Amino acid sequence: MVMADTSPRFGAEQIVERDHRYVVRSYGRYPLVVRRAEGVYLHGPNGQRYLDFMSGIGVMALGHSHPRVVAAITDQLGTLVHCSNLYYHPNQGAVAERLASLSGLQRTFFCNSGAEAVEAALKIAKGYGRARDEDKHEIVALRDSFGGRTLGSISVTGQPKYRSPFAPLIPGVRFVAPNDLAALEDAVGENTAGIIFEPILGEGGIVQITAEFAALARQLATASDALLIYDEVQCGMGRTGTVFAFQEWGGDSAPDVITLAKPLAAGLPIGAVVCSDSAASVLGPGMHGSTFGGGALACRVALEFLDMLPELLPRIREIASYLRSRLEDLVASHDFVTGLRGRGLMVGIELSVPGSAFVPRCQELGLLINCTAGNVLRLLPPFVIEREHADEAVGILEEALSQGPPDTAS
Ligand SMILES: Cc1ncc(COP(=O)(O)O)c(C=O)c1O
Repeated sequence: MVMADTSPRFGAEQIVERDHRYVVRSYGRYPLVVRRAEGVYLHGPNGQRYLDFMSGIGVMALGHSHPRVVAAITDQLGTLVHCSNLYYHPNQGAVAERLASLSGLQRTFFCNSGAEAVEAALKIAKGYGRARDEDKHEIVALRDSFGGRTLGSISVTGQPKYRSPFAPLIPGVRFVAPNDLAALEDAVGENTAGIIFEPILGEGGIVQITAEFAALARQLATASDALLIYDEVQCGMGRTGTVFAFQEWGGDSAPDVITLAKPLAAGLPIGAVVCSDSAASVLGPGMHGSTFGGGALACRVALEFLDMLPELLPRIREIASYLRSRLEDLVASHDFVTGLRGRGLMVGIELSVPGSAFVPRCQELGLLINCTAGNVLRLLPPFVIEREHADEAVGILEEALSQGPPDTAS
């Protein structure tokens, strides 16, 4: 019999069992069934409430069920959901126009996820190089980086665990350590088609790229006629307190291409590649595409998100600096908490011990976070948190950390 019941009567255990039985086991999920969500909280099956400081890995930046998002979706559902890229609709160009004015770049290609945005950026770089010389196809990327799960995006992901099972990957990718100026200089040459990196590495442990490294990348890209690509899938769209994370560095390091996804459509799937006219000219009709990309519904919500973003930025900076000041207390009061990483509402709490055991402890106490790079607790709260939410999160972290590192915990 097919069990199609999704009502609350279908118990949490049955939901987990069915998932284990029928869904490909490619995710290591935490033991939590989410029934619904509202504002900055997720709700479990038995009335438990969780402060959502993961926001769906940076997607739900406006929190859950934001009234403006609900209204935009509802309105668009009754107007136009999908018509494919065979035809025009009003929303796609409107989002592209807004992204152009925010970024200083000219054009946008739309897709449905971060990995697809990275794929498109790689095709643009390789097409750009090939139009200049047959051997100009190399990509320079960073160790510890993360670009997604498709074959192209794992080819520029600097973490063997994601790459090795699927080798051989795209040839000609050179990896350099984040912020290693000499290694970057060595790696970029006349055969380089593109340099790609996250201004703040997310999955790699909330590692900030320095202004010097970015400025050198810009200089080397220009000198070797390669494209400079910033992967802002996780750190972009307000997360760090500026629209794009690279804007913190000033004008010396402006990119040719930016990849975006996660929060852009406030929870609906979307990906975007924003690029210069010259980069965009690589893709003529038929050279790249997506059935769902830039659909009317996702773009309508993206417009709503981009409408709200400017007024959210000062708020993000204010609440981020409050949260950071409260988190500094944790660093001061636990010797195995060695520092804070990141900017704005992209925060890493660096530990000198493995961090994964603290994640279920926090969940038990009502706070959702995760652990990256083995020893960094990652917080990606929604942009709409208030001081009381920051206080609640820090209180729970304090309690979880007070139980000590895993080997000494009871
Ligand atoms: C920097 C970065 N790039 C690309 C991706 C891939 O995005 P998606 O999971 O939407 O394909 C991610 C996902 O976490 C990311 O953090």
